[in-house]
Amino acid sequence: MTHPRHAAITGWGKALPPAVLTNHDIATFLDTSDEWITQRTGMKERRVSHVSAIELATLASSRALACAGLDAADLDLVVYGGCSNEETVPNSASGVQVALGAANAAAMDLNTACTSFLYGLSAASSMIQAGVVRNAVVIGVELISRYLDWSNRNVAVLFGDGAGAVVLQASDNDEGVIGTVLGCDVESRQSLRVRGMGCGYAGRNITFGDMLWDFDGPVIFRRAVRAMSAASTRVMREHGVTPDDIDLVIPHQANLRIIESVARDAGVPMERVIVTVHKYGNMSTATVPVSLVDALDEGRVKPGALLLMPAFGGGLTYCALLVRWGQRVTPLGESTMALPPCDKTALELVNDIRANQDPHGRSMAGLMAPVFAESRAAESAVDGTQGGDVGTVREGDLAVSGQEPGR
Ligand code: UT7
Repeated sequence: MTHPRHAAITGWGKALPPAVLTNHDIATFLDTSDEWITQRTGMKERRVSHVSAIELATLASSRALACAGLDAADLDLVVYGGCSNEETVPNSASGVQVALGAANAAAMDLNTACTSFLYGLSAASSMIQAGVVRNAVVIGVELISRYLDWSNRNVAVLFGDGAGAVVLQASDNDEGVIGTVLGCDVESRQSLRVRGMGCGYAGRNITFGDMLWDFDGPVIFRRAVRAMSAASTRVMREHGVTPDDIDLVIPHQANLRIIESVARDAGVPMERVIVTVHKYGNMSTATVPVSLVDALDEGRVKPGALLLMPAFGGGLTYCALLVRWGQRVTPLGESTMALPPCDKTALELVNDIRANQDPHGRSMAGLMAPVFAESRAAESAVDGTQGGDVGTVREGDLAVSGQEPGR
Protein backbone atom coordinates (compact mmCIF):
# COMPACT_ATOMS: atom_id res chain seq x y z
CA MET A 1 0.00 0.00 0.00
CA THR A 2 1.41 3.41 -0.86
CA HIS A 3 0.97 6.22 1.60
CA PRO A 4 0.45 9.81 0.53
CA ARG A 5 3.27 10.82 2.91
CA HIS A 6 5.41 9.46 5.69
CA ALA A 7 5.74 10.15 9.41
CA ALA A 8 9.45 10.62 10.11
CA ILE A 9 10.83 10.39 13.65
CA THR A 10 12.72 13.68 13.92
CA GLY A 11 13.14 14.04 17.69
CA TRP A 12 13.63 11.86 20.73
CA GLY A 13 14.00 12.41 24.47
CA LYS A 14 13.76 10.65 27.81
CA ALA A 15 13.14 11.62 31.42
CA LEU A 16 14.39 9.35 34.16
CA PRO A 17 13.90 10.27 37.81
CA PRO A 18 17.26 10.41 39.63
CA ALA A 19 16.43 8.12 42.61
CA VAL A 20 17.75 4.59 42.01
CA LEU A 21 16.20 1.60 43.82
CA THR A 22 18.52 -1.42 43.87
CA ASN A 23 17.64 -5.09 44.35
CA HIS A 24 19.37 -4.85 47.74
CA ASP A 25 17.05 -1.97 48.69
CA ILE A 26 13.99 -4.13 47.92
CA ALA A 27 15.44 -7.00 49.95
CA THR A 28 15.35 -4.73 53.04
CA PHE A 29 11.53 -5.05 53.20
CA LEU A 30 10.66 -8.15 51.11
CA ASP A 31 11.68 -11.81 51.21
CA THR A 32 13.76 -11.64 48.05
CA SER A 33 17.39 -11.31 47.01
CA ASP A 34 19.63 -9.63 44.46
CA GLU A 35 20.56 -13.12 43.24
CA TRP A 36 16.93 -14.21 42.58
CA ILE A 37 15.95 -10.97 40.87
CA THR A 38 19.08 -10.91 38.70
CA GLN A 39 18.79 -14.56 37.66
CA ARG A 40 15.04 -14.61 36.98
CA THR A 41 14.64 -11.13 35.41
CA GLY A 42 18.05 -9.62 34.53
CA MET A 43 17.16 -6.54 36.61
CA LYS A 44 19.64 -4.83 38.94
CA GLU A 45 18.03 -1.43 39.56
CA ARG A 46 15.10 0.80 38.60
CA ARG A 47 14.03 4.44 39.12
CA VAL A 48 11.47 5.81 41.56
CA SER A 49 9.99 9.21 40.76
CA HIS A 50 9.57 12.15 43.13
CA VAL A 51 7.50 14.03 40.52
CA SER A 52 4.25 13.36 38.67
CA ALA A 53 3.90 11.35 35.46
CA ILE A 54 2.88 14.53 33.63
CA GLU A 55 6.17 16.19 34.67
CA LEU A 56 8.18 13.20 33.44
CA ALA A 57 6.21 13.17 30.17
CA THR A 58 6.66 16.93 29.71
CA LEU A 59 10.43 16.75 30.19
CA ALA A 60 10.80 13.83 27.75
CA SER A 61 8.63 15.71 25.22
CA SER A 62 10.52 18.98 25.67
CA ARG A 63 13.78 17.15 24.98
CA ALA A 64 12.27 15.43 21.93
CA LEU A 65 11.03 18.79 20.59
CA ALA A 66 14.45 20.41 21.07
CA CYS A 67 16.05 17.42 19.38
CA ALA A 68 13.73 17.92 16.38
CA GLY A 69 14.20 21.69 16.36
CA LEU A 70 10.40 22.05 16.57
CA ASP A 71 8.48 24.67 18.51
CA ALA A 72 5.78 23.39 20.86
CA ALA A 73 3.39 25.84 19.16
CA ASP A 74 3.80 23.86 15.93
CA LEU A 75 2.55 20.60 17.46
CA ASP A 76 -0.81 19.36 16.15
CA LEU A 77 -1.10 16.37 18.47
CA VAL A 78 0.09 15.14 21.87
CA VAL A 79 -0.35 11.40 22.48
CA TYR A 80 0.11 10.34 26.12
CA GLY A 81 0.67 6.59 26.13
CA GLY A 82 0.49 4.69 29.42
CA CYS A 83 -1.73 3.74 32.33
CA SER A 84 -0.33 6.13 34.96
CA ASN A 85 -2.82 8.96 34.92
CA GLU A 86 -2.90 11.69 37.53
CA GLU A 87 -6.61 12.07 36.79
CA THR A 88 -8.89 10.47 34.24
CA VAL A 89 -10.75 13.71 33.58
CA PRO A 90 -9.09 15.92 32.44
CA ASN A 91 -6.84 13.56 30.54
CA SER A 92 -3.07 13.60 31.02
CA ALA A 93 -2.14 14.59 27.46
CA SER A 94 -3.83 17.94 28.07
CA GLY A 95 -1.60 18.41 31.14
CA VAL A 96 1.49 17.89 29.00
CA GLN A 97 0.04 20.20 26.36
CA VAL A 98 -0.36 23.01 28.92
CA ALA A 99 3.12 22.45 30.39
CA LEU A 100 4.74 22.49 26.95
CA GLY A 101 2.75 25.49 25.71
CA ALA A 102 1.47 23.45 22.77
CA ALA A 103 -1.63 25.62 22.37
CA ASN A 104 -2.43 24.42 18.84
CA ALA A 105 -2.30 20.70 19.60
CA ALA A 106 -5.00 18.11 20.14
CA ALA A 107 -4.37 16.01 23.24
CA MET A 108 -5.16 12.31 23.50
CA ASP A 109 -4.48 9.60 26.08
CA LEU A 110 -3.95 6.05 24.89
CA ASN A 111 -3.84 3.07 27.23
CA THR A 112 -2.95 -0.41 26.03
CA ALA A 113 -0.69 -0.95 29.08
CA CYS A 114 2.96 -1.70 28.18
CA THR A 115 2.29 -1.41 24.43
CA SER A 116 0.78 2.10 24.71
CA PHE A 117 3.80 3.91 23.23
CA LEU A 118 3.95 1.64 20.19
CA TYR A 119 0.18 1.73 19.69
CA GLY A 120 0.47 5.53 19.94
CA LEU A 121 3.33 5.57 17.43
CA SER A 122 1.21 3.50 15.06
CA ALA A 123 -1.89 5.69 15.55
CA ALA A 124 -0.08 9.02 15.22
CA SER A 125 1.88 7.83 12.16
CA SER A 126 -1.39 6.78 10.52
CA MET A 127 -2.96 10.17 11.33
CA ILE A 128 -0.01 11.92 9.69
CA GLN A 129 -0.19 9.60 6.67
CA ALA A 130 -3.92 10.30 6.39
CA GLY A 131 -3.28 14.05 6.47
CA VAL A 132 -5.15 14.64 9.75
CA VAL A 133 -2.10 16.16 11.52
CA ARG A 134 1.45 17.09 10.47
CA ASN A 135 3.47 17.26 13.71
CA ALA A 136 2.95 15.01 16.73
CA VAL A 137 4.67 14.05 19.94
CA VAL A 138 4.14 10.48 21.13
CA ILE A 139 4.96 9.73 24.77
CA GLY A 140 5.44 6.50 26.70
CA VAL A 141 5.30 7.28 30.43
CA GLU A 142 4.71 5.36 33.63
CA LEU A 143 4.66 6.12 37.35
CA ILE A 144 4.03 2.60 38.64
CA SER A 145 5.71 3.14 42.02
CA ARG A 146 2.56 4.90 43.25
CA TYR A 147 0.22 1.96 42.65
CA LEU A 148 2.53 -1.02 42.89
CA ASP A 149 1.63 -3.49 45.65
CA TRP A 150 4.94 -3.15 47.50
CA SER A 151 4.01 -6.03 49.83
CA ASN A 152 3.85 -8.53 46.92
CA ARG A 153 7.30 -9.77 45.88
CA ASN A 154 5.86 -11.22 42.64
CA VAL A 155 5.41 -7.71 41.28
CA ALA A 156 7.34 -5.30 43.53
CA VAL A 157 10.73 -6.35 42.17
CA LEU A 158 9.77 -5.83 38.53
CA PHE A 159 8.70 -2.26 37.85
CA GLY A 160 10.21 1.21 37.56
CA ASP A 161 9.22 4.79 36.65
CA GLY A 162 10.25 6.79 33.59
CA ALA A 163 9.27 8.43 30.32
CA GLY A 164 10.38 8.58 26.70
CA ALA A 165 8.99 10.52 23.75
CA VAL A 166 9.45 10.97 20.02
CA VAL A 167 8.46 13.74 17.64
CA LEU A 168 6.81 12.67 14.37
CA GLN A 169 6.67 14.96 11.35
CA ALA A 170 5.08 14.58 7.93
CA SER A 171 7.79 13.89 5.40
CA ASP A 172 8.22 12.91 1.77
CA ASN A 173 11.19 10.72 2.71
CA ASP A 174 10.44 7.01 2.93
CA GLU A 175 11.03 6.66 6.68
CA GLY A 176 9.22 6.20 10.00
CA VAL A 177 6.84 3.31 10.70
CA ILE A 178 6.76 1.09 7.61
CA GLY A 179 5.05 -1.98 9.09
CA THR A 180 2.66 -2.66 11.94
CA VAL A 181 1.10 -5.72 13.52
CA LEU A 182 -1.28 -5.04 16.43
CA GLY A 183 -3.23 -7.60 18.40
CA CYS A 184 -4.69 -8.70 21.71
CA ASP A 185 -4.53 -12.25 23.08
CA VAL A 186 -8.15 -13.03 23.90
CA GLU A 187 -7.27 -15.84 26.33
CA SER A 188 -5.10 -13.90 28.78
CA ARG A 189 -7.12 -10.95 30.05
CA GLN A 190 -7.20 -12.24 33.61
CA SER A 191 -3.46 -12.91 33.88
CA LEU A 192 -2.58 -9.26 34.56
CA ARG A 193 -5.00 -6.99 36.38
CA VAL A 194 -4.41 -4.08 38.75
CA ARG A 195 -7.36 -4.12 41.15
CA GLY A 196 -8.29 -0.70 42.49
CA MET A 197 -8.13 1.52 39.39
CA GLY A 198 -11.41 2.17 37.61
CA CYS A 199 -15.09 2.71 38.26
CA GLY A 200 -15.72 -0.98 39.03
CA TYR A 201 -14.18 -0.19 42.41
CA ALA A 202 -16.20 2.94 43.19
CA GLY A 203 -18.21 2.97 46.42
CA ARG A 204 -16.52 -0.10 47.88
CA ASN A 205 -14.60 1.50 50.76
CA ILE A 206 -11.27 1.30 48.96
CA THR A 207 -8.55 3.81 49.77
CA PHE A 208 -7.10 4.92 46.46
CA GLY A 209 -3.50 3.70 46.31
CA ASP A 210 -4.42 0.38 47.92
CA MET A 211 -4.10 -1.84 44.90
CA LEU A 212 -3.89 -5.57 44.49
CA TRP A 213 -2.20 -7.08 41.47
CA ASP A 214 -3.59 -10.26 39.91
CA PHE A 215 -0.38 -11.32 38.22
CA ASP A 216 0.29 -14.78 36.80
CA GLY A 217 3.97 -14.34 35.91
CA PRO A 218 4.60 -17.71 34.19
CA VAL A 219 1.43 -17.40 32.05
CA ILE A 220 2.28 -13.82 31.08
CA PHE A 221 5.83 -14.93 30.26
CA ARG A 222 4.71 -17.73 27.92
CA ARG A 223 1.98 -15.75 26.20
CA ALA A 224 4.24 -12.70 25.84
CA VAL A 225 6.98 -14.68 24.12
CA ARG A 226 4.52 -16.34 21.77
CA ALA A 227 2.74 -13.10 20.90
CA MET A 228 5.86 -10.95 20.43
CA SER A 229 7.62 -13.64 18.39
CA ALA A 230 4.60 -14.28 16.17
CA ALA A 231 4.01 -10.54 15.64
CA SER A 232 7.70 -10.01 14.78
CA THR A 233 7.73 -12.87 12.29
CA ARG A 234 4.49 -11.69 10.72
CA VAL A 235 5.49 -8.03 10.34
CA MET A 236 8.78 -9.07 8.70
CA ARG A 237 7.01 -11.53 6.36
CA GLU A 238 4.32 -9.04 5.36
CA HIS A 239 6.92 -6.43 4.45
CA GLY A 240 9.37 -8.70 2.65
CA VAL A 241 12.04 -8.35 5.34
CA THR A 242 14.29 -11.11 6.70
CA PRO A 243 15.94 -11.23 10.15
CA ASP A 244 19.25 -10.38 8.42
CA ASP A 245 17.75 -7.07 7.28
CA ILE A 246 17.00 -6.00 10.86
CA ASP A 247 19.75 -3.71 12.15
CA LEU A 248 18.40 -3.44 15.70
CA VAL A 249 15.61 -4.93 17.79
CA ILE A 250 14.27 -2.54 20.45
CA PRO A 251 11.88 -4.75 22.43
CA HIS A 252 9.71 -4.12 25.47
CA GLN A 253 11.90 -4.73 28.53
CA ALA A 254 9.93 -6.94 30.94
CA ASN A 255 12.45 -9.70 31.56
CA LEU A 256 15.84 -10.49 30.01
CA ARG A 257 14.75 -14.09 29.42
CA ILE A 258 11.67 -12.91 27.49
CA ILE A 259 13.87 -10.66 25.33
CA GLU A 260 16.31 -13.52 24.61
CA SER A 261 13.47 -15.90 23.68
CA VAL A 262 11.84 -13.37 21.33
CA ALA A 263 15.18 -12.57 19.66
CA ARG A 264 15.86 -16.26 19.15
CA ASP A 265 12.38 -16.92 17.73
CA ALA A 266 12.66 -13.88 15.46
CA GLY A 267 16.09 -15.04 14.26
CA VAL A 268 18.06 -11.95 15.34
CA PRO A 269 21.26 -12.43 17.41
CA MET A 270 21.47 -10.66 20.81
CA GLU A 271 24.31 -8.41 19.54
CA ARG A 272 21.61 -6.60 17.57
CA VAL A 273 19.14 -6.33 20.46
CA ILE A 274 18.96 -3.33 22.81
CA VAL A 275 18.80 -4.34 26.49
CA THR A 276 18.13 -1.80 29.24
CA VAL A 277 16.17 -3.97 31.68
CA HIS A 278 19.17 -4.27 34.03
CA LYS A 279 19.30 -0.53 34.68
CA TYR A 280 15.64 0.57 34.54
CA GLY A 281 13.56 -2.56 35.27
CA ASN A 282 10.19 -2.74 33.55
CA MET A 283 8.93 0.82 33.01
CA SER A 284 5.94 -0.59 31.12
CA THR A 285 5.25 1.57 28.08
CA ALA A 286 8.31 3.76 28.68
CA THR A 287 10.78 0.93 28.04
CA VAL A 288 10.79 1.11 24.22
CA PRO A 289 11.17 4.90 23.80
CA VAL A 290 13.79 5.11 26.58
CA SER A 291 15.73 2.21 25.03
CA LEU A 292 15.51 3.93 21.64
CA VAL A 293 16.99 7.12 23.14
CA ASP A 294 19.79 5.15 24.82
CA ALA A 295 20.54 3.34 21.54
CA LEU A 296 20.80 6.70 19.74
CA ASP A 297 22.95 8.22 22.50
CA GLU A 298 25.30 5.23 22.25
CA GLY A 299 25.59 5.56 18.47
CA ARG A 300 23.91 2.20 17.87
CA VAL A 301 21.27 3.55 15.47
CA LYS A 302 22.91 4.17 12.09
CA PRO A 303 21.44 6.41 9.36
CA GLY A 304 18.81 4.48 7.40
CA ALA A 305 18.71 1.62 9.95
CA LEU A 306 15.80 -0.83 10.03
CA LEU A 307 14.42 -1.28 13.55
CA LEU A 308 12.06 -3.95 14.88
CA MET A 309 10.03 -3.02 17.98
CA PRO A 310 7.97 -5.82 19.56
CA ALA A 311 6.01 -5.43 22.79
CA PHE A 312 3.23 -6.88 24.95
CA GLY A 313 1.24 -5.66 27.92
CA GLY A 314 -1.86 -6.11 30.06
CA GLY A 315 -4.82 -7.22 27.99
CA LEU A 316 -2.71 -9.02 26.84
CA THR A 317 -2.11 -6.55 24.03
CA TYR A 318 0.81 -7.15 21.70
CA CYS A 319 2.45 -5.60 18.66
CA ALA A 320 5.51 -5.43 16.44
CA LEU A 321 6.49 -2.33 14.46
CA LEU A 322 9.07 -1.97 11.72
CA VAL A 323 10.68 1.47 11.65
CA ARG A 324 12.96 2.83 8.95
CA TRP A 325 15.23 5.42 10.55
CA GLY A 326 16.10 8.63 8.67
CA GLN A 327 19.54 10.09 7.96
CA ARG A 328 19.90 12.15 11.16
CA VAL A 329 20.98 10.34 14.32
CA THR A 330 22.04 13.36 16.39
CA PRO A 331 19.87 16.00 18.10
CA LEU A 332 19.41 19.45 16.55
CA GLY A 333 19.18 21.08 19.98
CA GLU A 334 18.85 20.61 23.73
CA SER A 335 16.02 21.51 26.08
CA THR A 336 16.75 23.70 29.09
CA MET A 337 13.97 22.03 31.09
CA ALA A 338 14.97 19.86 34.08
CA LEU A 339 13.34 17.99 36.96
CA PRO A 340 13.37 19.64 40.40
CA PRO A 341 16.01 18.11 42.71
CA CYS A 342 15.03 15.04 44.74
CA ASP A 343 15.95 15.22 48.44
CA LYS A 344 15.14 11.57 49.28
CA THR A 345 16.65 8.25 48.41
CA ALA A 346 14.59 5.82 46.33
CA LEU A 347 14.17 3.59 49.38
CA GLU A 348 12.84 6.53 51.39
CA LEU A 349 10.36 7.36 48.60
CA VAL A 350 9.18 3.73 48.52
CA ASN A 351 8.92 3.53 52.29
CA ASP A 352 6.74 6.67 52.27
CA ILE A 353 4.40 4.97 49.77
CA ARG A 354 4.41 1.71 51.78
CA ALA A 355 3.48 3.57 54.95
CA ASN A 356 0.22 4.72 53.35
CA GLN A 357 -0.71 1.42 51.66
CA ASP A 358 -2.91 -1.32 53.12
CA PRO A 359 -4.31 -3.36 50.20
CA HIS A 360 -4.49 -6.61 52.14
CA GLY A 361 -6.23 -4.96 55.10
CA ARG A 362 -8.73 -2.08 55.04
CA SER A 363 -9.37 -2.25 51.25
CA MET A 364 -9.19 -6.02 50.69
CA ALA A 365 -12.93 -6.81 50.64
CA GLY A 366 -13.71 -4.00 48.22
CA LEU A 367 -10.81 -4.89 45.95
CA MET A 368 -12.01 -8.49 45.66
CA ALA A 369 -15.71 -7.58 45.12
CA PRO A 370 -16.04 -6.66 41.42
CA VAL A 371 -17.15 -9.28 38.90
CA PHE A 372 -15.42 -8.67 35.61
CA ALA A 373 -16.84 -8.56 32.10
CA GLU A 374 -14.97 -11.64 30.90
CA SER A 375 -16.29 -13.70 33.84
CA ARG A 376 -19.87 -12.74 32.97
CA ALA A 377 -19.24 -13.52 29.29
CA ALA A 378 -17.87 -16.96 30.21
CA GLU A 379 -20.87 -17.64 32.47
CA SER A 380 -23.36 -16.73 29.75
CA ALA A 381 -21.47 -18.92 27.27
CA VAL A 382 -21.90 -21.87 29.67
CA ASP A 383 -25.61 -21.00 30.15
CA GLY A 384 -25.97 -20.74 26.39
CA THR A 385 -27.60 -17.35 26.85
CA GLN A 386 -25.07 -15.33 24.87
CA GLY A 387 -22.15 -15.71 22.50
CA GLY A 388 -19.36 -15.07 25.01
CA ASP A 389 -16.69 -16.26 22.59
CA VAL A 390 -13.73 -15.75 24.93
CA GLY A 391 -11.66 -18.75 24.00
CA THR A 392 -10.62 -18.18 20.41
CA VAL A 393 -7.06 -17.30 19.48
CA ARG A 394 -6.21 -16.49 15.88
CA GLU A 395 -3.94 -19.39 15.07
CA GLY A 396 -1.83 -17.47 12.58
CA ASP A 397 -0.95 -14.90 15.23
CA LEU A 398 0.08 -17.10 18.13
CA ALA A 399 1.44 -20.18 16.43
CA VAL A 400 5.10 -19.58 17.33
CA SER A 401 6.31 -21.66 20.25
CA GLY A 402 6.90 -19.86 23.54
CA GLN A 403 9.93 -20.59 25.69
CA GLU A 404 8.95 -21.92 29.11
CA PRO A 405 9.81 -19.36 31.81
CA GLY A 406 11.57 -21.91 33.94
CA ARG A 407 14.23 -22.85 31.40
O1 UT7 B 1 5.14 -5.95 31.17
C1 UT7 B 1 4.24 -6.97 31.54
C2 UT7 B 1 4.47 -7.39 32.97
N1 UT7 B 1 4.58 -8.78 33.21
C3 UT7 B 1 5.72 -9.51 33.12
O2 UT7 B 1 6.67 -9.07 32.62
C4 UT7 B 1 5.73 -10.88 33.72
C5 UT7 B 1 6.41 -11.93 32.92
N2 UT7 B 1 6.83 -12.99 33.81
C6 UT7 B 1 8.06 -13.02 34.35
O3 UT7 B 1 8.89 -12.19 34.03
C7 UT7 B 1 8.40 -14.14 35.29
O4 UT7 B 1 7.34 -15.10 35.28
C8 UT7 B 1 8.64 -13.64 36.74
C9 UT7 B 1 9.96 -12.87 36.81
C10 UT7 B 1 7.49 -12.73 37.18
C11 UT7 B 1 8.73 -14.81 37.70
O5 UT7 B 1 9.76 -15.69 37.28
P1 UT7 B 1 9.46 -17.27 37.18
O6 UT7 B 1 10.71 -17.88 36.78
O7 UT7 B 1 8.27 -17.44 36.29
O8 UT7 B 1 9.17 -17.64 38.70
P2 UT7 B 1 7.85 -18.25 39.37
O9 UT7 B 1 6.78 -17.23 39.44
O10 UT7 B 1 7.53 -19.54 38.69
O11 UT7 B 1 8.41 -18.55 40.83
C12 UT7 B 1 9.52 -19.44 41.04
C13 UT7 B 1 9.87 -19.43 42.53
C14 UT7 B 1 8.67 -19.63 43.44
O12 UT7 B 1 9.11 -20.38 44.56
P3 UT7 B 1 8.82 -21.96 44.65
O13 UT7 B 1 7.32 -22.10 44.58
O14 UT7 B 1 9.53 -22.57 43.49
O15 UT7 B 1 9.40 -22.32 45.98
C15 UT7 B 1 8.31 -18.24 43.88
O16 UT7 B 1 7.68 -18.22 45.14
O17 UT7 B 1 10.42 -18.16 42.89
C16 UT7 B 1 9.68 -17.61 43.98
N3 UT7 B 1 9.64 -16.17 43.83
C17 UT7 B 1 10.55 -15.35 44.36
N4 UT7 B 1 11.63 -15.58 45.13
C18 UT7 B 1 12.37 -14.51 45.50
C19 UT7 B 1 8.74 -15.43 43.11
N5 UT7 B 1 9.07 -14.12 43.20
C20 UT7 B 1 10.18 -14.05 43.95
C21 UT7 B 1 11.00 -12.97 44.39
N6 UT7 B 1 12.07 -13.25 45.15
N7 UT7 B 1 10.74 -11.68 44.04
